[in-house]
Amino acid sequence: MVDNAVLMVMAIVAFFSSLEVLGGYLQHSIRSKDDWIQEVLSAVLLSVVFKPCIVGGVVITGTILLPEYQMLWSNWVFGYLCLLYLMVDDIMQYFYHRYAHRHPFFWKLHRPHHQAEEMGFFVSYRNAALYYWLMPNAWWLGVFTFLFGGAAAALGLVLKQVIVISSHSHFAWDKPFYINPWLRPIIKILERIIVTPAFHHAHHGQSQLDGSDPNANFGNMFSIWDQLFGTAHFTHHFPSAYGLPNNSEDSWQSAYLYPLIHSKDPKSEISITFNKKNTSTNTPIFLDLKQGDSYLWCRCGKSKTQPFCDASHHGTQYKPVLFEVQKDASILICNCKYTKSAPFCDNSHLQIKEIK
Ligand code: FES
Repeated sequence: MVDNAVLMVMAIVAFFSSLEVLGGYLQHSIRSKDDWIQEVLSAVLLSVVFKPCIVGGVVITGTILLPEYQMLWSNWVFGYLCLLYLMVDDIMQYFYHRYAHRHPFFWKLHRPHHQAEEMGFFVSYRNAALYYWLMPNAWWLGVFTFLFGGAAAALGLVLKQVIVISSHSHFAWDKPFYINPWLRPIIKILERIIVTPAFHHAHHGQSQLDGSDPNANFGNMFSIWDQLFGTAHFTHHFPSAYGLPNNSEDSWQSAYLYPLIHSKDPKSEISITFNKKNTSTNTPIFLDLKQGDSYLWCRCGKSKTQPFCDASHHGTQYKPVLFEVQKDASILICNCKYTKSAPFCDNSHLQIKEIK
C-alpha cells in the first residue's frame, strides 16, 4: 500500500506538471533559478528524507518503548481510519499554518512559500527545511503509522496530495465551474468542504485590495476549519498579483536553511540586520481620499508607508483594515493604532502615553 501511495503521488505530480507544461507555464514562468532550486530541493527532501526519517523515528521509538501499542488498532474499519488520519492531520496543519502567519520566527520559516510570485504545483513544498521538521502533522503521520498501520495513512496522503497540489497549481481546475451557471451549484458545495484553487490562490494574493486575502484561508485539504474558526474568505476571483508586496532578493540557501543561513539583502526579513520597527506615531494624518477607491489601513503599526499597509504585518497578530471611501473627502486617519473606529481617528492618541 505504501509503495502504491508513492507511485500515486508521483503520478499526481506528473499529471499536474504535464497540465502546467501544456498550458504554457514553463515558457512564461517568471521564476528565477533560485526559485526552482528551492522548490525542487524542498519537494524532494521532504518526500525522501524528512517524512521517512520522522515516521521511521517515531515507529522505532514506539516499538522500543511501547511495543504493546504497535498496530494495536489497525483492525478498525479502513474507511474510518483514513478519515481519522486526514481529519487530525488537517486540523493540525490548519493551526500550524495559521500560527506561522502570526509568529515572527515561524513566519520566517513559512515566508518562502509566500514569496512565489506565481503559482505552480511546486509552490506546495516551498518552505524552510525547519518548517517541515517542526510541522506537527508530519509527526502525527509517524504516530498514526505506529498505532494504526501505514495503509490508511498512505491512502490519506494520496487524497491529500490531489487537493494540495491542485490548489497550488497554475492550472486551476475550478475556473469553468464559476463561468458555467450549470456547474456553479456544484462548486458552491465543493468549496465548503475541500480547498479549491480559487480559495487557496486568494491566500497567496498580495493584499485584500484585489479581492484576495493572505490573512485568511489557512486550510490545507479541507476548508471546514477556516469556516469553523472564522478565517474563511470565499472568492471566485483569482489574485491580480501573487507574492509579497515588500519582497526581497533571497538566495535559495538562505530561504531554505534559515536560521542557519541569513539573506544578504538588508531589506529581507531573514537578513541578520533586519529590524521591523514600529512606525506609528501619535499624530493622525489628514488625507485626500477619492470616492469609490479602496485602501488598506495599517493596523500593526509597522508599515513603512503609514497609514497604509505594506504587508509588514506578516509575522504579527494583526491584519490590515480594508475600507472604501464613500465620497471625495479630506479624512483624518488614525496613526496611533488605538482608534476604536478604524481607520478613522477618534482622538485615542490623546489618551495614550506611549505608542505600542
Ligand atoms: S503593514 Fe499591514 S497591517 Fe501594518
